[in-house]
Amino acid sequence: MGRSLVYKRRRCGRVAEGETNLAEDPVRLDGLGYEAGGQAILSGITLHSGAQKIGVVGRNGSGKSTLSRLMAGLLKPASGTVRIEGVDVYADRRAALRTVGILFQNPEHQIIFPTVGEEIAFGLRQLGATAAEAQEQTRATLLRFDRAHWLDAPVSALSQGQKHLVCMMAVLAMQPRLLILDEPFAGLDIPTKRQLARHLDRSGARLFHISHDPADLAGYDQLYWLEQGRIIAEGPPAVLLPEFTAEMMRLGDQDDLADISA
Ligand SMILES: Nc1ncnc2c1ncn2[C@@H]1O[C@H](COP(=O)(O)OP(=O)(O)O)[C@@H](O)[C@H]1O
Ligand SMILES: [Mg+2]
Repeated sequence: MGRSLVYKRRRCGRVAEGETNLAEDPVRLDGLGYEAGGQAILSGITLHSGAQKIGVVGRNGSGKSTLSRLMAGLLKPASGTVRIEGVDVYADRRAALRTVGILFQNPEHQIIFPTVGEEIAFGLRQLGATAAEAQEQTRATLLRFDRAHWLDAPVSALSQGQKHLVCMMAVLAMQPRLLILDEPFAGLDIPTKRQLARHLDRSGARLFHISHDPADLAGYDQLYWLEQGRIIAEGPPAVLLPEFTAEMMRLGDQDDLADISA
């Protein structure tokens, strides 16, 4: 309880870098499109939200990972813009680094250093911290997660769930205004998912969680349904998730695995 209040105060006290317009919704996608291999992967995505926990649900291949990379400014949109807290995340990479963080499904794709402490310190150095500042902030982050004893632990000795927590700590140490989650919980058992979700909720960061699994998004404030690169519905979880689940069950009774789209 006391901990979440501390996080909240710090979040309120932060000043967004880059161009800001306080009247703007903090998450703002306008006419966003992406193409690859001559095909439209995402089209006409417009989404404005000030919700604290935003979710996107969609089946495999609907464009979720492409959307999460565009949101983090890692891909150049073919059309439209992504503005987070007033920052155009592709055009202004420096401001984007302070504004958005991203967690991928596979921690092996994210972790590059041999020890937990080095991994967390790296992101802080990227933000311009000196080695001493990064060391101090790394210790503070580990302490906040009750993991002070992980500082020199080799990442290779950790379980999959623990590796996910390292990625989460490394990203949250950078204090992003928005944390993008590209199915980071896929394949984890229920207790591990619940523990990681609790850490996320305490972090104070706005969440943009993308998943194929309705169970991941049940407690979210506002949901969007992504289908073949377009948003086809939006609404609260109590309305949208049963509709999504019914449609997935209906599709599951068919045999569309046979289709090969060239
Ligand atoms: N660089 C690319 N080149 C060609 N096709 C791509 C590329 N990136 C994604 N796609 C295609 O776009 C669709 C959406 O991919 P993706 O965003 O990974 O979906 P999801 O994460 O929902 O499974 C898929 O059909 C995928 O094959
Ligand atoms: Mg994906």
